[in-house]
Amino acid sequence: MNKHIDNQGMASSASPIVKQMTTLIEETGPLTFARFMELALYDEEYGYYMTGGGLSRSTTPIGGEGSDFFTAPSLSPILAKCLVRQLEEIDERLGHPPVFHLVEMGPGDGTLLRDLLQECQEQQGSLFSRLACILVERSPAFRRRQRDALAAWQEQGVGMQWVDDLQSIPGGSLTGTFLSNELVDAFPVHRVRMEEDGLRESYVINCDNALQEQWGELSTPELVSFLSGLDVKLPVGFITEINLEAVQWIKQVAMVLDRGVVITIDYGHTAQDYYAPERKNGTLMGYYRHTVTTDPFTRVGEQDLTAHVNFSSLARTGEQVGLTTTGFTNLQHFLMGLGIEELVEGREQESDAVRTAAQLLRPHGMGTTFKVLMQHKGIVVPALRGLRHRAFFESVLEVVH
Ligand SMILES: C[S@@+](CC[C@H](N)C(=O)[O-])C[C@H]1O[C@@H](n2cnc3c(N)ncnc32)[C@H](O)[C@@H]1O
Repeated sequence: MNKHIDNQGMASSASPIVKQMTTLIEETGPLTFARFMELALYDEEYGYYMTGGGLSRSTTPIGGEGSDFFTAPSLSPILAKCLVRQLEEIDERLGHPPVFHLVEMGPGDGTLLRDLLQECQEQQGSLFSRLACILVERSPAFRRRQRDALAAWQEQGVGMQWVDDLQSIPGGSLTGTFLSNELVDAFPVHRVRMEEDGLRESYVINCDNALQEQWGELSTPELVSFLSGLDVKLPVGFITEINLEAVQWIKQVAMVLDRGVVITIDYGHTAQDYYAPERKNGTLMGYYRHTVTTDPFTRVGEQDLTAHVNFSSLARTGEQVGLTTTGFTNLQHFLMGLGIEELVEGREQESDAVRTAAQLLRPHGMGTTFKVLMQHKGIVVPALRGLRHRAFFESVLEVVH
């Protein structure tokens, strides 16, 4: 048994969310880790994202003073400036459709979309006037922040619609781009460990009114199919996360898209790297006020929980449901392909633009830990600028042998 006992006070029996979970465990039995993570992040009353970053928080958890973590859009509009170049190219490949759907799923504070609109308008091309924005956001607290951030654009008449989930978008109705940044790493994951006699799953149990991890039989055979589908054979003792929700998600994305490109930016790896010995304890992490923990039972409902994305799984599942893999690269190469260097040319070294560009490009930081997967449907071989410099060989997303 791998013990993670609450030791920070916040997740003690005094915490209402832990109390709710321990009661649920008493009534229905141990929770799969995925169910625990779902509640910790998305419980309607206490979940970290549903409350906008924890009940005790009054400011945003994303970027700025007192936040829990930074994301690329929260650092600088430079990502949006680069992305607009990519959107314009996609628009051209689509033949400048009368309506270009720009879907962002999990838009957080709405910063990226706000900056995208600003840049798009400044470019003075025809794309801006044809944009129809759709924000897919399950958290009411974040929807409020997005509405505030985007109110001025809505007042200017930019088409903007909010939906809670992808099921609310009619199948095959979208032409344009489906964008997400740090969405998939926020989906609840199952946790598994390979033992001598096969795979075991992590459950959460109640131990004296505190939460504790316990290994048990698999809750679903899909966990085995996930690994065998990628030809992965884990060594004994290896712990990893399995994001079954991401598999369903990319299928739904394929379903709603008629013609266009899916751009997924996130922490993550190809299958080869995901199951490399250095990740033998998995990739699960908690973020609270910029401190990182591997203990998910600390500050439940008050800390973000994430697990890295398996891009091979997204690409492979996508291929099965009509999304062709356009390419895969890292953030550094993506931004360079889109001309980030030109965008900061001539600026002072000490300027915000240069400083944040350097942060996004950092070879031992965001530039390489963040990856960009592009998938397309209904466009013939779109050689896109963001993929001009590939950080990997073409076959990198193929399965491990
Ligand atoms: C880590 S934040 C990233 C925010 C933003 N994209 C950024 O980069 O700053 C994750 C976002 O995804 C949203 N989210 C998570 N799961 C979701 C789902 N299934 N459907 C819609 N939104 C979701 C969260 O509420 C939050 O807005």
